[in-house]
Amino acid sequence: MSGFDDIFSAAPEAVADAPGRVNLLGEHTDYNDGFVLPIAITQRTRVAMRRSGEDHFSLHAAELQNTVSFKLGEPPADHFASYVYGCLMLLRARGVDVPPLQIHVESQVPMGVGLSSSAALEVATLRCLRQLLRIELDDVLIAQLAQRAEIEFAGVNCGIMDQMASSLADTQRALLLDTRSLERRVVELPPGASVLVLDSGVARTLAGSGYNERRAQCEEASRLLGVKSLRDVTDVAMLESLPELLKRRARHVVTENARVVQAVGCATPEHFGELMNASHASLRDDYEVSTPELDRLVALLQQQSDVYGARLTGAGFGGACVALCRTGSEREVGAAVLERYNDSGQRGAVLVPPV
Ligand code: GLA
Repeated sequence: MSGFDDIFSAAPEAVADAPGRVNLLGEHTDYNDGFVLPIAITQRTRVAMRRSGEDHFSLHAAELQNTVSFKLGEPPADHFASYVYGCLMLLRARGVDVPPLQIHVESQVPMGVGLSSSAALEVATLRCLRQLLRIELDDVLIAQLAQRAEIEFAGVNCGIMDQMASSLADTQRALLLDTRSLERRVVELPPGASVLVLDSGVARTLAGSGYNERRAQCEEASRLLGVKSLRDVTDVAMLESLPELLKRRARHVVTENARVVQAVGCATPEHFGELMNASHASLRDDYEVSTPELDRLVALLQQQSDVYGARLTGAGFGGACVALCRTGSEREVGAAVLERYNDSGQRGAVLVPPV
């Protein structure tokens, strides 16, 4: 019993939600102005609000069983609250008069596994504020504000993929996004193929520091190459002059962009799957954001005859893997792989399709 009414003893004035996402291909390309191919998942985050009539905000997170109070200009210490606080502060900075609110959050999006629970929270919060305060915000602007909330208030120097996916993608077709121009196109999954997502059960470590370090390495590589971003490198031969480590980091980005473009042009699940497998190898060897557990889970998935391809998804350093499977085989594949994976004491679980 922790719905809005139970916590605040009144009905909300506005309610909105937004989905998590799983990225099929195009990892660590978004902050390099490149291409990504996420799809929304069915799990969503729901935010409800009403004006509190008090001098402070009260934010309750049902899953965390935690209520936080804060005022604008006095950042809350709890990390989860910083996403909501960031959205409120950014609207205020745009001249929106944001009154103190009671805010209730409940979420089915698994947290901390690479399925963008934070983007779902930011987008749902901004949608709810749009409704409550009757302000004009289009879906792209919502994604842009959500990304800024994450960078400026939660301290992760992320790209725009997650927020664009949460704001604009649907669960049936993938969203091909050019993160430089924000041009986008809806793309069908290959025929007869469906998405399976497994959690490795290993929490993401170093996600913040390792992520920001990779980003800085990409920026350094672009600077040395004299390009605006690695998106502008289309041939790996151009990377020869870079120091060894930066060359590998940049090679991942350049080849990953090419894989997204190829995947969108390819009709067969087999080809799409090969591109996913190549993406994992590149993330493991060149970008070094995989872990032994993710490698093992991906290898087990790749051994299944009903799996076309598999890779880690999201930032890496732990979290989840995504596989493209023959439609209808997802549950069987998930169970078979987890039986072997969890044999060694791991706590892997199926995240998509949700149980
Ligand atoms: C996180 C970030 C995204 C993106 C991915 C890696 O999810 O929030 O912007 O960089 O990692 O592809």
